[in-house]
Amino acid sequence: MLSRRALLKTGAASVIMFGVAGTWWVTTRPAKTARAPWRAASEGFGDPRLDVLAYAILAPNPHNMQPWRIGMGDGLEFTVYCDLDRLLPETDPPNRQITIGFGCFLELCRQAAAESGFRAEISYFPEGEPQPVLDSRPIAKVELVEDSAISPDPLFSNVLERRTNRLEFDKDRPIDSTVLAALRDATVDEVNVFTTSDESEVDTLRKLAADAWLIEWSTSRTRRETIEVTRIGEAEVDAKPYGISIDDRLNSTLGMVGLLSREALDDPESVAYRESYAFYERACQSAMGFVWATTATNTRRTQLEAGRAWVRTQLAARSLGVSFHPLSQALQEFPEMAEHYRRAKGLLARDEGETVQMLARLGYAQSIGPAPRQELASQLITI
Ligand SMILES: Cc1cc2nc3c(=O)[nH]c(=O)nc-3n(C[C@H](O)[C@H](O)[C@H](O)COP(=O)(O)O)c2cc1C
Repeated sequence: MLSRRALLKTGAASVIMFGVAGTWWVTTRPAKTARAPWRAASEGFGDPRLDVLAYAILAPNPHNMQPWRIGMGDGLEFTVYCDLDRLLPETDPPNRQITIGFGCFLELCRQAAAESGFRAEISYFPEGEPQPVLDSRPIAKVELVEDSAISPDPLFSNVLERRTNRLEFDKDRPIDSTVLAALRDATVDEVNVFTTSDESEVDTLRKLAADAWLIEWSTSRTRRETIEVTRIGEAEVDAKPYGISIDDRLNSTLGMVGLLSREALDDPESVAYRESYAFYERACQSAMGFVWATTATNTRRTQLEAGRAWVRTQLAARSLGVSFHPLSQALQEFPEMAEHYRRAKGLLARDEGETVQMLARLGYAQSIGPAPRQELASQLITI
């Protein structure tokens, strides 16, 4: 049996906080129940609305908070609300990123509906746009209407394979310009998607992302926001299948013997703190290309459109075997980030008025398994 000291040593190089969702698939026995929704989606529920929602809950969303709550209406209608206990007020004070996650969710509703011959008629913010933060009013109302003329979306076939891949990317494998063009083409009206694989531009953006990450991780309240929703080990992930999961075998073991804990992650003197920082920093530095999105306005409706473009771009990357990892830190609106926010805007927006809604690194990496999801039934509410 490994001594505590030996474990600490091996663990030291392997505490991979943000990467765990990446490694379990090949090496471990992670929380299984928490991944069941990925299988359930393709099995279907026998109600067209549930069938659509089973795919929608697989949408990318900040810190995997899965803030969606769904009230089933009459006929083929449902209403989407935000669980206000699932916001990230420190890193996302205006709830812009959370709203983008809802845009991803609604785009997957649209695609899943089309797949089974329905047009999803989606009304955004039917009771008005909540500002300056989200409130209890609905995010969207959705009605499924049978439509024999609806065409399936070719991107849909990638939904169950889409991943946020935080592993280091292959630095010897450049990204072809045809890949970048396909990502730009995947966008929607009102959202401008840009890409680069130019070495000097990529290098500038790597540095921006890494500098911004240092701010997020070294600012106590933004770091703690992440740590509070970090689940360590299989049991925690199954009990709370939302938030950031660390349930590969090594880190689960380190968690069980007390060497990896939320307290350690929050202690700047600890290995866990340093390795978590270094893991993500290496990820930033291994970017082989970048994709970003800007919008002319920053209304709630525009943020939903940005979310639609986000997941479409990620699905397009997936279809071409390219890994996609958002690096949102420099785009965040908390005061300590102001300098890098300005830098990001200067580098990525075409004018002062534009908002940069997304920044993600691209590259080739080992394939990974899905992130946890809450089961659909637990997200249905009575209205
Ligand atoms: C608006 C938004 C911002 C995000 N920002 C980051 C980020 O900065 N870093 C990161 O590692 N993942 C980021 N993500 C990815 C989520 O963490 C990820 O979607 C979630 O953990 C679920 O994992 P999955 O995409 O593999 O299903 C972001 C996702 C969205 C929608």
